[in-house]
Amino acid sequence: MKRMEAIELPAEEIAHQKALMREFALLENRPRTYCVVTYGCQMNAHDSEKLEGMLIEMGMTKAESREAADFVIFNTCCVRDNAQRRALGNVVWLKELKKTKPDMMVAVCGCMMQQKGMGEQILRQYPFVDLAFGTHNLYRFAQLMLQAVRSRRRVVEVIQEDEGSIPEDLPVLRSSPYHAYITIMYGCNNFCSYCIVPYVRGRERSRASARIIEEARQLKADGVREIMLLGQNVNSYGLDVEGELSFAQLLKELDGIGIERIRFMTSHPKDISDELIDVIAESKHICHALHLPVQHGSTRVLESMNRRYTREKYLARVRAIREKIPDMSLTTDLIVGYPGETEEEFEETCSLVSEVGYDSAFTFIYSPRIGTRAADMPDQIPEKESSRRIQKLIAIQKENTRRNYAAYIGQIHSVLVDEASKRDETQMAGKNEYNITVNFPGKKDLIGQIVRVKITSAGESTLRGEMVNL
Ligand code: SAH
Ligand code: SF4
Ligand code: F3S
Repeated sequence: MKRMEAIELPAEEIAHQKALMREFALLENRPRTYCVVTYGCQMNAHDSEKLEGMLIEMGMTKAESREAADFVIFNTCCVRDNAQRRALGNVVWLKELKKTKPDMMVAVCGCMMQQKGMGEQILRQYPFVDLAFGTHNLYRFAQLMLQAVRSRRRVVEVIQEDEGSIPEDLPVLRSSPYHAYITIMYGCNNFCSYCIVPYVRGRERSRASARIIEEARQLKADGVREIMLLGQNVNSYGLDVEGELSFAQLLKELDGIGIERIRFMTSHPKDISDELIDVIAESKHICHALHLPVQHGSTRVLESMNRRYTREKYLARVRAIREKIPDMSLTTDLIVGYPGETEEEFEETCSLVSEVGYDSAFTFIYSPRIGTRAADMPDQIPEKESSRRIQKLIAIQKENTRRNYAAYIGQIHSVLVDEASKRDETQMAGKNEYNITVNFPGKKDLIGQIVRVKITSAGESTLRGEMVNL
């Protein structure tokens, strides 16, 4: 059912939280420096920018290193077992450090914390963790910290709700002056059978378009040149709110603001509409780079994954996109070793990857997540077999990348300059509109500018070129 309006938290609640941030800053006996350690996707990266925004308001400054910080917070991911293990491994590593620095505070938050039973597990198995909370109560961070510091007791708060809310106006410390993330929607309703995200991020909830447009205007005024719109499935933006703009309409509005580059992720192939393709084709600022995760090449597996498209439908969408936008750079996510995946079905993934010819792809070995449907399916594939399959798939994609990148040689690309190379300060690095890193000789004062670069050679994952004056 559609809501009449976006489910924002009351403005008084956020004002209350901001007052608590200032209250925290006045405490005598509190940590002074912080370190935020982030795992997972761009959503988490942006949540960490909000954590930092709040930490600054709470009177803290960024520490030189993790070891030097009075307060370390881990913003965790649990999408695959290795993501979760890496996060937990690092938390445990801090236990030793804490023995030599008894006043140090340790917190854990993010998707891993939002899993069922994780709060209890932290209390039982990780006694050196002072504070833990989930994704739904990130906005209560100052309140929870205040409680932990004042009571000198451990605080664990995970709100088990499916819905989730929308916190507006939290302070944000953006990590770059030129790029910015804008969350356009939270949560996911798709329940792909392998995926934990809907369980830890709640239901789809779109921010009000007026809020998003206002934020983009402000970012432009602040000098931002590239925005990345975030959502687990941006194509279903607005569908949960009565009378809200569609994603295509929102993009059109944002294009009109005049920020040089607009990117978005992630697009679910099941509902990439013709309207959306047209808007991208006609826009001035929407980059011709589309991350369109296919996950698998076999219709039987896609059905079992609950992806709601077939191999043929996916390929037809790719054709429709390329017909209207011939230079569209496509990237994807792929899973191998999904339960019951036969050799023939795996081969279908390989042939689809060759057929589409992606610029690049993220390849993952299926990782069972407790509570998801696929975790209980029979015929789980042994690790050794999955490893063999992923190696083969990576080799196929590598060939695609080599061929596509070679075809860029001779073209002139616009590059937003990010940084000087760490090894050689006369070499600059930035992203072209296809989101590929381009290296070229240049001066540091180009950082933050968009320049024209003629591509002269291609590496395995980057391009190289020379600036041209056009
Ligand atoms: N919302 C995005 C993806 C979010 S997770 C989308 O639908 O495309 C990022 C990627 O992690 C997914 O695209 C998928 O390829 C991978 N992934 C998710 N769950 C996984 C699991 N259990 N095992 C292996 N890979 C997984
Ligand atoms: Fe996970 Fe599927 Fe939602 Fe993406 S669309 S976050 S893969 S459930
Ligand atoms: Fe990981 Fe959560 Fe993102 S599980 S991939 S950080 S939404």
